[in-house]
Amino acid sequence: MYKTRILPVPDPDSLGRYRSPTSTSPTASPLDHWDAAESAPGLDALVTAADHIRNTDVPVGFPTETVYGLGADATRSGAVRGIFSVKGRPSDNPLIVHVCDLDMLREVCNTKLPDIYRPLVDKFWPGPLTILLPVPANAKYTLAPEVTAGLSTFGARLPASPLTRTLIRLADAPLAGPSANASTRPSPTTAQHVVDDLNGRIEVVLDGGACGVGVESTVVDGLCDPPVILRPGGISLADLRSVPGWERVERAYHDVAHGGNAQKDDMTQKAEDALKPRAPGMKYKHYSPKARVVLYEGGKTPVLSREALLKDVEGAGQQASVVGVVRTSTWPALASSKAKAAAAVSNGSTKNGDGVVYHLETYSLPSGPKVLELDLGRDLPSIAHGLFSSLRDLDAQGAEVILIEGIDDGGDDMASAVMNRLRKAASEVR
Ligand code: TXA
Ligand code: MG
Repeated sequence: MYKTRILPVPDPDSLGRYRSPTSTSPTASPLDHWDAAESAPGLDALVTAADHIRNTDVPVGFPTETVYGLGADATRSGAVRGIFSVKGRPSDNPLIVHVCDLDMLREVCNTKLPDIYRPLVDKFWPGPLTILLPVPANAKYTLAPEVTAGLSTFGARLPASPLTRTLIRLADAPLAGPSANASTRPSPTTAQHVVDDLNGRIEVVLDGGACGVGVESTVVDGLCDPPVILRPGGISLADLRSVPGWERVERAYHDVAHGGNAQKDDMTQKAEDALKPRAPGMKYKHYSPKARVVLYEGGKTPVLSREALLKDVEGAGQQASVVGVVRTSTWPALASSKAKAAAAVSNGSTKNGDGVVYHLETYSLPSGPKVLELDLGRDLPSIAHGLFSSLRDLDAQGAEVILIEGIDDGGDDMASAVMNRLRKAASEVR
């Protein structure tokens, strides 16, 4: 058992910068070289974490713009094995490799970036996008075989967070980093979430505040034709299709709402194979709070009425003394002024890391159950931002069942990432 310490980093933006390119070569990019600052508030915390990464086999918790990660030197087998044992992660699920700049990526790949990725990198890096690349035979940074779980490709990501990039620069190694939750739990979006799951199992968590995006990176494979999305995430299908060479990008992950269960009986073997998840992690149970999650598919008409919702909450309350309700785009507020007058309502905004992310009301229904009613907001960025956090908070407050309003993911926006996570978290879909 370790004593897990949270090390605050107050001003991530002051921790480093990209060097202006000096070369006029057509392949030169403003992302070629990231320099750490010589001094900055909180830099000492990063030096401590980087020392851990270099000298121990105990991974460190670190923030990114998507979710918190659990990082280890991707070139050392012992260090990478540390990640799998701390998380309780199956060893056949490969890890994403985080780099701080394109020079480091070249030293992992031992070759230039395949042309298909160049416009994608120019547009979305640094940012929530992971690209699959071939594992080279020899390179300056040779990835430990545990990182790729024996596959011939690895996932590479250049994160938007300057804190993450400076940590990688100081550790002087590409960072293998899955989300820093215990396996099967919702991904962490604050340093405290990491400690809630991994207290005593790691020594250091860097605290850069709440993650802005709130869902993980989009994982794409451009080495096949047409290119495919292996996991939906912070960069949407519409974003990807706007890039030359990516107009025909397809979904290659299995999601119920995209043609899975209903037609399964008459599916040909080929179609069945096409729907098998190609990102190994997508087949595992995931993102689940302790509470039973009941997901209502979004985009249905008519919209659930207040009376129908109340009936469902009361129904859930027959088996559970605390019921969580998570509203997104259309559900009406349940706590009517009458209900509020009849019961003690505690009314407040939940602060999470560095910002208010949603509104929570607590009250009791006349029929018995205590209700925790949480409003994630109507716009997609706030829903994504508060998603995992809301599930964790309702767990912490003792919810036994959570009724959650799904959103319409029929379009090509980030709603697919939100619904993908919710469907995996749900025990029941209505
Ligand atoms: O936003 C993110 O991507 C976060 C932060 C920490 O960077 N990381 C993250 O890692 O979500 P993880 O390990 O929780 O999810 C990685 C996903 C899994 O679904 C895994 O199967 C897939 O990426 N993946 C990694 N390498 C792959 C490969 N070579 N081929 C196919 N899928 C791969
Ligand atoms: Mg994960």
